[in-house]
Amino acid sequence: MGFILAAIGSAVGLGNIWRFSYLCYENGGGAFLIPYFTALFVVGIPLMILELGIGHRMRGSAPMAMATVNRRWEWLGWFAVLIVMYGIMLYYSTVIAWCLNYVFFSFNLAWGDDPNSYFFKEFLQMAEKPFDMGDVRMPILTSLAAIWFFSWLIVFFGIQKGVELANKIFMPLLLSLILILVFWSVSLEGAGKGIAVYLKPDFSKLGQRKIWIDAFSQIFFTLSLGFGIMIAYASYLPKKVDIVKDALIISLGNSAFSFIAGFAVFGTLGYMSHATNQPITEVVSETIGLAFVSYPKAISLMPAFSNVFGVVFFAMLVIAGLSSGISILEAFSSALIDKFGYNRGGVVTFVCITGLAGSVVFTTKSGLIWLDIADHFITHYGLMIIGILQCIVVAWIYKASKLRKHINSVAPPLLSSIWDTCVMYVTPLVLTALIVNDLITELKAPYGGYDLSGVLLIGPVWMVVILIASLFISNYPWKKELQDNHH
Ligand code: TRP
Repeated sequence: MGFILAAIGSAVGLGNIWRFSYLCYENGGGAFLIPYFTALFVVGIPLMILELGIGHRMRGSAPMAMATVNRRWEWLGWFAVLIVMYGIMLYYSTVIAWCLNYVFFSFNLAWGDDPNSYFFKEFLQMAEKPFDMGDVRMPILTSLAAIWFFSWLIVFFGIQKGVELANKIFMPLLLSLILILVFWSVSLEGAGKGIAVYLKPDFSKLGQRKIWIDAFSQIFFTLSLGFGIMIAYASYLPKKVDIVKDALIISLGNSAFSFIAGFAVFGTLGYMSHATNQPITEVVSETIGLAFVSYPKAISLMPAFSNVFGVVFFAMLVIAGLSSGISILEAFSSALIDKFGYNRGGVVTFVCITGLAGSVVFTTKSGLIWLDIADHFITHYGLMIIGILQCIVVAWIYKASKLRKHINSVAPPLLSSIWDTCVMYVTPLVLTALIVNDLITELKAPYGGYDLSGVLLIGPVWMVVILIASLFISNYPWKKELQDNHH
């Protein structure tokens, strides 16, 4: 139970509320659910079973699991945890910090009548170019420090008294908050109109490449796949455990949460369109603006208790984000502990301090640009490449059939050889096709219209630096003994 809650806590995050909703909106409403669920069944669930299975079989964090299969592939495990810890987590924690600021702004609806300029001009004081950093935004840095401190506190206390306990409190709380928001939003006038936009499929979009790429990268992000997190969490499971059932509960639970959250988001947008007498397309903003511009606007328009609504919404985001953030802290710290034998307290403290220091760049005036570029490259290329290589290491080198035998030996033998085919051929081929497709668009023009030097540095160069660090760490010997995998 603690494991399932923690795994769901990792999966359910900012991505389920803010990312999923705008992807749906951008990609033809209900039609997006088709590539989304295809991605879930073709890649998401098979890879979830693979990650949980290998973590359980090798009883260790991602680098340890990879090294046990084959010493030469250890770097892949490090690459996964490092790119998430010193890549995704740095900007992810900054977004949680914004949410924390907005919890307080909600008390007096500080964004006033123009949430758009409040967010971009006053709060972020956003620059135009990647290197026009200006100075650090103090309000953001302060809440960022609070977020890192809180995460440190939870992971410091270890698995049972820290991570599990936090998730046992966070998850029921998160579910209650989202249900309150859903009922509240759908009862507002005009909500139906918004929900119609959410669910009404525009099938003509299915022919576009973008909708498929978005769906697959969302599945990776939302299920924490390729993060090394599920491998680490599964290593704490007891000997007898039904991995297939757990993988289904986690994956479907996570998607159900996204789907339900969509009703709250679009119900509120419908209300806003009704209250301002504007078509829905006018009230929606894409990407990050959905949570920090459209939502505040809607909150200000609420007939009653608008500040309570705001506090509930942003507090929900903070909790969703924290429970995901602590999962990478745990996955990375446990890898360092296995490898070097350091004590837990010291490792966690070191990781949090370097994490906070690394996030500072995202609190500068060009923070949002950095976020945009880093997120694009890591989620589109980093996670998918890890996914492909993980299939090669586990399904080909270790052998899918061997892992399947293990999974079926500790639970009712439900997993059939179709899964082998999936992780050996289907998943890696689909992912390769997506990356190739993505690269074609990439090479036409620098991402997002930013300067080429900025895009290169924040995207590919960052990833190569992490790759070199992964290879470097792999050269050191293991403190904890690796399992013998020959049975
Ligand atoms: N799955 C999370 C989401 O949908 C993202 C996430 C999980 C994450 N673990 C993380 C992000 C660790 C940063 C660090 O939002």
